[in-house]
Amino acid sequence: MDDIKIWDDVAENYEDNSYHGKNNNYPANKHRAKIILRFLSKLKKGKILDAGCGSGYIAREVSKQGWDCTAIDLSRKMLKYARQKAVKEKIKHDIKHCSVLDMNIFENKKFDVIMLNGVLPYIKDESRGYKECYRTLKDNGYLITSHYNLFFDLFTFDKYTIELISQKLINKVIVDKDIFNRYKAKLKKAITAPQQPKSEKTMKSENPLIYKEKLKRYSFNEEKQFYYNFHILPPSFTTSEQNNFRNKLEEKFYNKWQGLIFAKTFISVARKV
Ligand SMILES: C[S@@+](CC[C@H](N)C(=O)[O-])C[C@H]1O[C@@H](n2cnc3c(N)ncnc32)[C@H](O)[C@@H]1O
Repeated sequence: MDDIKIWDDVAENYEDNSYHGKNNNYPANKHRAKIILRFLSKLKKGKILDAGCGSGYIAREVSKQGWDCTAIDLSRKMLKYARQKAVKEKIKHDIKHCSVLDMNIFENKKFDVIMLNGVLPYIKDESRGYKECYRTLKDNGYLITSHYNLFFDLFTFDKYTIELISQKLINKVIVDKDIFNRYKAKLKKAITAPQQPKSEKTMKSENPLIYKEKLKRYSFNEEKQFYYNFHILPPSFTTSEQNNFRNKLEEKFYNKWQGLIFAKTFISVARKV
């Protein structure tokens, strides 16, 4: 079972921090929402599932676009705020307590679109999640997911980079443990301003170049990728001025190759085959 307490604990301020940029936070999720909403606005409206909806920002916005939206989450606190905010904005949609790993409350082939925005990186048994989405999605329906970008870890050159370089590169050629450890220590020393781009929570990254292959194994065909949460400098060098550029970067490069390297996160749009 995934740890839901971490989401209960942040539920109250989740939307302010990640969508409205309060408390000096960069509103990365607002950019994700903007990209997804732009994409959805062009589709014929139907039934959409916001799976792992959090406090429901995107669910409310897609309802405004005319989608018949159902929102589910496992965190009761997140759902409490999702319900409050929907009432406040006079939006009527279904909000249910349900795990993305067991969506038996829904019939087969029910939704035209399923979104998992920032959910899969935290799910241990992701394979069940993909299979449940496949079952509840209509034929040819869209699966929209978002992920941490493995390449960005390289760009940040921090303790995660060290792990990446050590585990995926150096230990493939250096078999002597002593030499390996000495090399790793040198790499660690090379970092002058270590900083954590990710928290210690169990977040998984995906390689955007081969994510398509993973989706294929679950019978989805990836059609597009979009990038958000850009950095003009590695986060270790983040200055307040940098944030002034980030809005512009998000808009200019959200669908360009630069996102593969300079965006911390990406969105994948796939279809059920
Ligand atoms: C990073 S938040 C994303 C919230 C929302 N999708 C958004 O874009 O703002 C991750 C959400 O996934 C939910 N979650 C984690 N595991 C889940 C599961 N197995 N089933 C349903 N929701 C889950 C958490 O409770 C949390 O609300």
